[in-house]
Amino acid sequence: MTTKPGSSVSNGVVTLYTKLVPPTAELVRENIQIMESQGRHDAFFVVDLGQIFKKLDQWYRLLPRVRPFYAMKCNSDPEVCNFLARAGVGFDCASKVEMQQILALGVHPSRIVYANPCKAFAHLRYAQEQGVDLMTFDDVHELVKVQKYSPNARLLLRIQSSKEHKAKHDFNKKFGCDPDDAPKVLRTARNMGLDVVGVSFHVGSLPEEVDCFASTIREANDVFTHGETLGFDMQILDIGGGFPGVDEAGMTFEKVAETVNAALEKYFPATRGTEIIAEPGRYLVTSAFTVAVNIIGKRVLHFNPGMWSSCRLGPNGSSVRKRHLGAQIEWGLFEKRRGLVSKQIIYS
Ligand SMILES: Cc1ncc(COP(=O)(O)O)c(C=O)c1O
Repeated sequence: MTTKPGSSVSNGVVTLYTKLVPPTAELVRENIQIMESQGRHDAFFVVDLGQIFKKLDQWYRLLPRVRPFYAMKCNSDPEVCNFLARAGVGFDCASKVEMQQILALGVHPSRIVYANPCKAFAHLRYAQEQGVDLMTFDDVHELVKVQKYSPNARLLLRIQSSKEHKAKHDFNKKFGCDPDDAPKVLRTARNMGLDVVGVSFHVGSLPEEVDCFASTIREANDVFTHGETLGFDMQILDIGGGFPGVDEAGMTFEKVAETVNAALEKYFPATRGTEIIAEPGRYLVTSAFTVAVNIIGKRVLHFNPGMWSSCRLGPNGSSVRKRHLGAQIEWGLFEKRRGLVSKQIIYS
């Protein structure tokens, strides 16, 4: 989602949108007029499907070997999903509700990857019933669930992305098998009679540099080869998301595509016959959305992201405090004499 600058406020109503481009600008103005005539000042979105079309066109031009599966958790708006379904795109679904929404559009189950390495029992059973068989996992506990509820699954082992890089939303702490542990996990899958067909990863959303794609593709290749050695028919490499929604200095889609193509050429040349898929989320929809809000007041807040705040007093002078660090929220237990004694980290 993007908000575009250039609005001004008069009598509490946004009246001017100087930086919006047609046709979005006209639509926003028209809608505000209609709503004002009805005495309404609700916030609303405008979506330009043409932008999504342009993004798809760019994808197919610059990453011709990589088939996109839209990560609908990013924005499950029915019009957007319908548009992408008609355009022939696949879908990355993370839950039963998401699979239901996409299957109801008439999308064939083979166009879905159930890309959640930690799945609920009922959702796994639903996937099995509906024939959604391609799914990710990242540890042996997940294999136990898969064996029981979705034994026909074709599994992608999700590995952590290479560790040296930073991303605004780093998923390594919550998802992904350490590539060093992959041989053990793959052996367990084989002993359980499960079918591993490839490797997946996610470099994190909004990564700070493009090299992470190349280094993680290299690591995926090692795991892939190990799977082949164990006798698995490794067919699919899923390079996840992390493609920029809007180009920024140092991080443009062109640069990412160049890096990905070079790494694929080196480790997964076309002659190897591997099917390459990806799960773009932000890339496809960010530039298409404009939000219009009614500004009713203004206050400048001085927010220090590293500071502990919201103290809740406990017994004997202890307290529980919270602080924000990027996408992460930390809850800390403070004791009167020892200060911070333990921390719990939550990702938003
Ligand atoms: C498994 C998975 N795939 C894809 C995405 C989409 O990521 P992005 O918006 O960075 O492309 C996400 C985002 O959370 C994700 O968790």
